[in-house]
Amino acid sequence: MSVAQVLAWRIYATSLRSCGDDDCVCAACADGVSQPKSLCDRLGGPSAVSAVVSSFAGKALKDDRINKKFAKSDANRIVVHLTQFVELGTNCSGAKYEGRSMKATHEHMGVTDGEFNALVDDLVKTLDEFKVPAAEKTELLNILGGYKKEIVEKAGDTKTGTELPAKFKPAPTLKK
Ligand code: HEM
Repeated sequence: MSVAQVLAWRIYATSLRSCGDDDCVCAACADGVSQPKSLCDRLGGPSAVSAVVSSFAGKALKDDRINKKFAKSDANRIVVHLTQFVELGTNCSGAKYEGRSMKATHEHMGVTDGEFNALVDDLVKTLDEFKVPAAEKTELLNILGGYKKEIVEKAGDTKTGTELPAKFKPAPTLKK
């Protein structure tokens, strides 16, 4: 057998093995191409992602460890854009993010490591309430955790509940 034939056989065998597995999108199996489900799909699709984000945002806005930072901001804008952001990050089909970059959004907010961790803690609690399995939970936390450097301005500072600096300027209110 030539190298090309061996490769062709391996690709064919992989596609056979994957069809019917949990991680196989069967529409994709029809042409012999297996495709793992997106994190969005494994979380239950865009409506489930949106429900998780709304619940998470509600928790964060009530959390005294971080909510001074939200005092000047439009809560509706945060929920709308955070939902789009998570939908895009988890690969929901057709997802589109219309907010600002993480760096520009959180600039002059003075977010500490402790406050970032408090927000992650709220997200973990939310995911547990929604009974999101460990693998999906870790995957989502890793995706969002990757933005830490762009959000935390006071690295190494474990304080929570710190004041919003006067020079922070919120983004405009979202027109409904
Ligand atoms: C992985 C963590 C985080 C992600 C993915 C995230 C994501 C976002 C997104 C997508 C927006 C909307 C941006 C827009 O409308 O243009 C936003 C806004 C905001 N975030 Fe975060 N954020 C994170 C952590 C934090 C933390 C730790 C705090 C504070 C303790 C915070 C405070 C805020 C505030 C106050 C706004 C409103 C900004 C404004 O009015 O301009 N965020 N965030």
